[in-house]
Amino acid sequence: MAIEMSVISVGAVFLVVFLLIVLICTSGQRDKCVQEDQKDSKSTATESRLLQYFYQFLPRTSAPSLPGPPSLFLIGNMMELTHDHLPIHLTNLAQRYGNIYRLKCGPTTMVVLNSTDVIREALVKKWSDFAGRPGSYTGDIVSGGGHTISLGDYNEEWRAHRRLVHSALQRCCQQSLHDVIERQALHLRKVLMDYQGRAVDLSEDFTVAASNVITTLTFGKEYDKSSLELQQLHSCLNEIVALWGSTWISALDSFPLLRKLPNPVFSRLLKEVVKRDEIIRKHLNNYKSQDKINADAITGSLLQGLDKQQSAEHGVLLTDIHVHMATVDLLIGGTETTAAWLNWTVAFLLHRPEVQTKVHEELCTVLEGRYPKYSDRHRLPVLCSLIHEVLRLRPVAPLAVPHRAIRDSRSAERYAVIMTENKED
Ligand code: HEM
Repeated sequence: MAIEMSVISVGAVFLVVFLLIVLICTSGQRDKCVQEDQKDSKSTATESRLLQYFYQFLPRTSAPSLPGPPSLFLIGNMMELTHDHLPIHLTNLAQRYGNIYRLKCGPTTMVVLNSTDVIREALVKKWSDFAGRPGSYTGDIVSGGGHTISLGDYNEEWRAHRRLVHSALQRCCQQSLHDVIERQALHLRKVLMDYQGRAVDLSEDFTVAASNVITTLTFGKEYDKSSLELQQLHSCLNEIVALWGSTWISALDSFPLLRKLPNPVFSRLLKEVVKRDEIIRKHLNNYKSQDKINADAITGSLLQGLDKQQSAEHGVLLTDIHVHMATVDLLIGGTETTAAWLNWTVAFLLHRPEVQTKVHEELCTVLEGRYPKYSDRHRLPVLCSLIHEVLRLRPVAPLAVPHRAIRDSRSAERYAVIMTENKED
């Protein structure tokens, strides 16, 4: 399977390159035919546009101070991104090129960060330098035109949207989150007890539990494992995440000419996005048609926040699309991440029963028989270590979500390397 995947990925990249060359040639010919009788000035403009497009793919030294693997003609370092185990491959490249290196992909230069210190420096200490998100053609399609918090670029609209969602989440955490989670946890316990020690695959149960927390908070609705509606929602969201990560789709971001060709994978992505939006629109409409809107639930709080925000701070007006896309963010961000973490935690605890005993003892001693709350976390160091250790060993989102630098920035580590190199010279 791994070999098959890598053959497909390599094949896809070659096909992309081949199609690109054919397209550049044929579009050049088409321009020539159509414009045969037109004046020189216009054809020069077309040629220079093509040349400009071509130039983006020539090996350039846009970031001369950053090391990185040699960049190939046309495709740059795109082949590096087609590896099956990308996080491991990128970590291996760091052994050769250091904790900060660059990869070129079409006209885009990516900078890969590889150590806790450097990542903390970029995303915490200098977060505002890297507050942007890279825009992309396909990213815009899955995020309803950049209207999600997770993929939207840094601007006043994004800031107002993020503030709205964070305050709705905060309000919800204080008022109903704990009860919703406790209810789902107790239900999950019953499901697990009912297996009576049989060997089972728990992944679906974890997805249902994690998803029910989010759907209760967003739609005011929880589902049974057998629910067709839940299965439709998840198959659609998982399809979008999987298709969006495929080479057939990412090639469209780097090579715009490919968008003019038929692409069945892209058509499937568009279909799933339409399906997702229909499902969420239906739920939000149902929610809004309730006699009394529950402001303890996230959607209620978001809708109330919209009303309050009607005064349009900084000329930004948030609308239903922002509530819609925030729901997408929470469903995609909060379901499979939590479910994958639960799966790995159980898998590790099965092999390390002594850790399981320690966590259990800590819970019994500290909580004295009641269920844990988020505010108890500082008194539960063994449980917190378990959570962090599983995330370290099996990171759920190992490459996180890409950021875009909104201004020039300098890394202390890279600066030290340059200074040392200069001294040695
Ligand atoms: C194991 C669990 C989780 C992991 C590993 C995880 C991971 C991440 C990562 C890496 C980011 C990108 C951060 C950045 O670019 O700076 C992110 C953002 C986000 N996540 Fe999660 N997440 C988890 C759970 C959740 C849950 C439960 C929710 C929803 C209730 C959620 C909703 C979001 C949202 C809305 C964003 C965008 C936030 C923003 O930019 O302000 N995530 N998450």
